[in-house]
Amino acid sequence: MLNNLDKKTFDAFRDLVYDKAGIALGEKKEALVAARLSKRMHSLDIPTYEEYYEYVNNDTDGLEIIKLLDSISTNVTHFFREQQHFDFIANHIDKWYLGGQRKFRIWSAGCSSGEEPYTIAMTINETLRGKASDTRILATDLSTKILTEATEGIYNERDLEKIPDNYRRTYFEQIKVDNKVQYQIKSNCRSLITFQRLNLTDTPFPMKGPFDFIFCRNVMIYFDNTMRKRLLEEYHRLLKPGGFLLVGHAESLTGMLTGLKSVKPSIYEKQ
Ligand SMILES: C[S@@+](CC[C@H](N)C(=O)[O-])C[C@H]1O[C@@H](n2cnc3c(N)ncnc32)[C@H](O)[C@@H]1O
Repeated sequence: MLNNLDKKTFDAFRDLVYDKAGIALGEKKEALVAARLSKRMHSLDIPTYEEYYEYVNNDTDGLEIIKLLDSISTNVTHFFREQQHFDFIANHIDKWYLGGQRKFRIWSAGCSSGEEPYTIAMTINETLRGKASDTRILATDLSTKILTEATEGIYNERDLEKIPDNYRRTYFEQIKVDNKVQYQIKSNCRSLITFQRLNLTDTPFPMKGPFDFIFCRNVMIYFDNTMRKRLLEEYHRLLKPGGFLLVGHAESLTGMLTGLKSVKPSIYEKQ
């Protein structure tokens, strides 16, 4: 039986999560945090939140903080989330291809379980339809657990709800896992993507860029303005002039943009 998460310990976890991942947990998230941490504590057989806090802080190899962040982060995502973003990149890739561009670089920052980068890959495949190109998609996330799922690329029938039938046939193969029917992404999409762990608080980022598109959707909502500003500066640095940053629809970047011009709701172009 676990004890209660008191305010002092909750605040200590909040500071730790902010420090390590830039995630600003609201004051009212106490019950949510308690529930999420309790699963991890249960598997470690640690009965109190105070002891778990000590355990994380004394963990010299830093692996427990990764587990803690794995349990805290919200990974909700789905295929073709905000369809207009994919129509937008399809139009531009088509146009740029006609103009002679062959190299395309896309980054999905906060890719969760892979639905976003795989949707980008399907969109690009459908746009270029076998025409020669040098296309690479970098997909990064903080959570090692979710990245393992993303790399496996195995989904159930419900996950595939938004995927048109012809895409399902072309990009997924039916497999059986524990006697249940599942769908695994095929190599025609997977081969375009490199999955990597990257903490968005670790600026400056090691990549050289330049990217044609950076997707950072439904990730910055967990950060405060200081962190958002730092990220936007990095995205600006890594985009090519005329490249685009795509964010989630609920996210407002008003007052934080330098060198990024709003071209459509939730889409910004590097000047
Ligand atoms: C709600 S999901 C969004 C997934 C996808 N981009 C979408 O819009 O459907 C947010 C993701 O951001 C990741 N995340 C949160 N904080 C992060 C950080 N500091 N660095 C990298 N990824 C982070 C979480 O692990 C999670 O997978």
